[in-house]
Amino acid sequence: MSDTQVPLHRVIYDTDPGVDDAMALYYALAHPRIELLGITTCYGNVTVQQATANALYLTQLAGRAVPVAQGADRPLVKHAEAPPDFIHGADGLGNLPSRVPTTRQADPRSAAQFIVDMARAQPGQITLVPVGPLTNIALALQLEPQLPQLIKQVVIMGGSIAEQGNVSPVAEANIWNDPHAADAVLTAGFDLTMVGLDVTYKVLLPVSLFAAIADHHQHAATDTLLHAVKFYSAFYAGRFAHMKDFDGCYGHDVMAFICLTHPELFDYESGPTRVATEGFAQGQTLMKRQAFMDYPMSGWEADIPPLRAAMGVDLAAAKSLVQATLLRAWL
Ligand code: BDR
Ligand code: CA
Repeated sequence: MSDTQVPLHRVIYDTDPGVDDAMALYYALAHPRIELLGITTCYGNVTVQQATANALYLTQLAGRAVPVAQGADRPLVKHAEAPPDFIHGADGLGNLPSRVPTTRQADPRSAAQFIVDMARAQPGQITLVPVGPLTNIALALQLEPQLPQLIKQVVIMGGSIAEQGNVSPVAEANIWNDPHAADAVLTAGFDLTMVGLDVTYKVLLPVSLFAAIADHHQHAATDTLLHAVKFYSAFYAGRFAHMKDFDGCYGHDVMAFICLTHPELFDYESGPTRVATEGFAQGQTLMKRQAFMDYPMSGWEADIPPLRAAMGVDLAAAKSLVQATLLRAWL
């Protein structure tokens, strides 16, 4: 099937850019099957103001006038955590040495209002791809409780079912940043696919891949991405023994888009999934993996809707897709 025959994914990308967020954004802009209707921003890797500035900057560099709506600056209930500048840089893009002035402006609406307006205008058409804390999606649900029926599907980067966490032994960062929002979104009844550490920890992307892409395009957008990826990869080299001599990184957020465009590359498990909101396990995503079990404790009633979690991936194919997509003539 050629690129022009396949249906378009009409996407709102909810993001806290963030180096892997930037990688995912450029994958989405480069991919012929994705139409990016809007970007909504959230605190997380950086403050929400910085996330908005980065979304405007990255789209401007790529020459795309995608609307950007600023979202939540803090979680629903818990206190905000400090942005991890040691992972993404203080500016979220690996501490860029300079920036050209940004001429783009944010949409006047809040992220939640933007999502609701778009979903009402195009019922059943829009896919949400959230790759940061799920606060904006939870706020949109508060504005429009019918959102799960208005949205086609949700593909999140976040959580882990069987894999270790990355902010605690059991919690992944996006879910941990706002566990109350995550529990609300995961149990709301969306057609929801979770792309968590179970798969993103399987896919290592070398800096050389981004260097080849920058070399191919000779463009400020891919130069910026390469700079950011180098900073991000230095963090991984210092953190994980198996990455000490690798010179590369995990592509976390881009895996959500790969799952959207190429779901056949993944293995899945389905089940009702809750989020621990308090205590040592705060941010843990817990899936009921044994359908036959009938748990006596509250919170696991039969009406909790199931979600799909990606558990395995064809990593060579995923890596090739990142490379082939970003090498396309999209700039
Ligand atoms: C997730 O946390 C953020 O730091 C990344 O951008 C990604 O969305 C990985 O746990
Ligand atoms: Ca992110």
